[in-house]
Amino acid sequence: MATLPERIKIVEVGPRDGLQNEAKPVPTDRKIAFIEALADAGLKQIEATSFVHPKTVPQLADAVEVAKALPRGDGVVYSALVPNEKGLDRAVESGIRRIALFTAASDTFARRNLRMSIDESVNAFRPVARRALQAGITVRGYVSTAFVCPYEGEIAKERVRDVTERLVELGCDEVAVSDTIGAAAPGDVLATVGFVAERVPRKKIALHFHDTYGTALANVCAGLQLGIETYDSSAGGLGGCPFAPGSTGNLATEDLVYMLERMGIRTGVKLEKVVKAAQDIAQCIGHELHSKQARRLGKANGKQP
Ligand code: COA
Ligand code: ZN
Repeated sequence: MATLPERIKIVEVGPRDGLQNEAKPVPTDRKIAFIEALADAGLKQIEATSFVHPKTVPQLADAVEVAKALPRGDGVVYSALVPNEKGLDRAVESGIRRIALFTAASDTFARRNLRMSIDESVNAFRPVARRALQAGITVRGYVSTAFVCPYEGEIAKERVRDVTERLVELGCDEVAVSDTIGAAAPGDVLATVGFVAERVPRKKIALHFHDTYGTALANVCAGLQLGIETYDSSAGGLGGCPFAPGSTGNLATEDLVYMLERMGIRTGVKLEKVVKAAQDIAQCIGHELHSKQARRLGKANGKQP
């Protein structure tokens, strides 16, 4: 393997990507406690919620309340999804300091998710990004369905690079190339992300994997080989996208932390605390955690994870 980074940045997306997909509503105070527990575990970047249409994603309808309650001055960067101008209004009202704009590498997926084509979404984001940056709010981007789309199938790497570059031009300081349905394997990552990295600086690329087919950690290794230093993951492996049929949970933060630390790559994250945070929120959601580390620690404690 190529020279490994000494340290990588984890973007914890459990409170957003994780909770948006759960059938059982989670009370606002439990969400806030979850986020605080994740910060206490050492996570420095936490995607806390989403200012999308409350009817589209009712699980996160309390976004303003959650964002207003986030701790300040604790060295953690909290962020939230914003799909349009209205979403930015709510983000500004809530006082959040980082937003994430999201589109896709597949037009069909963009239309299902945002009711806009890729081109329309990028055009709609332009004034949103400008206004956010003027207000001192930093901007992240997502390219969903960057490898396989549940509607269009295989996605050409040229499309992924094109959309990623357009998001960087809008002012995104980081773009998460995202395997929304968790279908990619390391060869896909090397091909597509390697191609993106020919034009987009590696420091601006993040990788976002779901573990539907069990390839997420292997995909991280492919990303490390390409020199990518930012990875999204979700405590407990919660998550999935309600607009992507068949997608299951994100790569679990604790499994990512275990592998990286064992490889000598520092994360600054305390694995046991992540599992504890995920176990607490799992009680609200009413289902088991699927991460390897949650299962291992659950067994060691003689209880079901
Ligand atoms: N927050 C709250 N309300 C919003 C909103 C937002 N971000 N965006 C639009 N609205 C309201 C408008 O004010 C308008 O209200 P009105 O009828 O009272 O005037 C109404 O919704 C319709 O607005 P419109 O711009 O036509 O939105 P839409 O119905 O086409 O929905 C999105 C577009 C993008 C807001 C919606 O599809 C969405 O939230 N998608 C996100 C999906 C998601 O979260 N996916 C998971 C992430 S991968
Ligand atoms: Zn996701």
